[in-house]
Amino acid sequence: MTKYDAVQIAAFPVPESYTAPTDLVIKALFEESNPQGWLEANGAGIPVMLSHSGVAVTADMIAAMPDLMLVANFGVGVDLVDHAALERRGVVLTHTPDALTDDVADMAMALMLGGIRRIGAGDRLVRAGRWSTPLTRSVRGLSLGILGLGRIGSEIARLAAAFGMDISYHNRSAIADSPYQYANSPVELARTVDVLVAAIPGGGSEPLISDIVIEAIGPDGLFVNIARGSVVDESALLDALENGSLGAAALDVFMNEPKIDPRFMALDNVLLSPHRGSATEEARIRMANETYANAANCVAGRSLVDIYRQ
Ligand code: DGY
Repeated sequence: MTKYDAVQIAAFPVPESYTAPTDLVIKALFEESNPQGWLEANGAGIPVMLSHSGVAVTADMIAAMPDLMLVANFGVGVDLVDHAALERRGVVLTHTPDALTDDVADMAMALMLGGIRRIGAGDRLVRAGRWSTPLTRSVRGLSLGILGLGRIGSEIARLAAAFGMDISYHNRSAIADSPYQYANSPVELARTVDVLVAAIPGGGSEPLISDIVIEAIGPDGLFVNIARGSVVDESALLDALENGSLGAAALDVFMNEPKIDPRFMALDNVLLSPHRGSATEEARIRMANETYANAANCVAGRSLVDIYRQ
């Protein structure tokens, strides 16, 4: 029987010309009709799992790999990983946080500018053979609240500052020497800004952006999400967009992707994007290279980069 170095649980969305820079023997588990069954029969002796931010790493999968040392994740988000199961076994988790910062921040800016200037609604009008120019607000001078001033949030702040936006943020605690105004809670942040951007990790037990936070953004406000669908109460978001208590939203992420709630389709005040924050050739190549490099380093006993720590 072939001795595998790693199982890969999902295909990596990389350019067609991409060749993995590794001579590891990798089992494409996603090609199996019964992946869990395959793992239970063959998982012993395999030290690495290559995972993908959009696919769950379950306790059952981990249990079926008694020699697992590393889960190397393609992507920054690890909200679908069973962290407790990894910790119990002492399995290391790596991800790719630096590979996609700029591209996800660019996507936040694209959604924000598109949401403020109603680019999606304009596109739909022109395609329908109509022509009208309702007035929008000017971006310069609007206030932007960033929920999660981490790597991506900080890059959004840097870019938005160049657009003349007035920036504030909320994190679990204030960042010393930050040039931006700190808000004590998500609702306090939402109350004081024109645009609220979510740049926090997913995976919390309750959505941080509750109905109260959504109402606080207000009827003239815009909500932008490049984080995860799970960070916002999606049903409250839809209600608020339908009844006008929230002005508009621009969203790259949703609950239940790719089967998103059909209520979104009927709304003209929403800009919809199919989770494309990191979908550039350059980011995806960096993400894949780093993921395979961590796998190879683990198998060779070398040190790893970007170990995930909660
Ligand atoms: C990530 O890396 O978590 C992104 O959401 C994937 O596009």
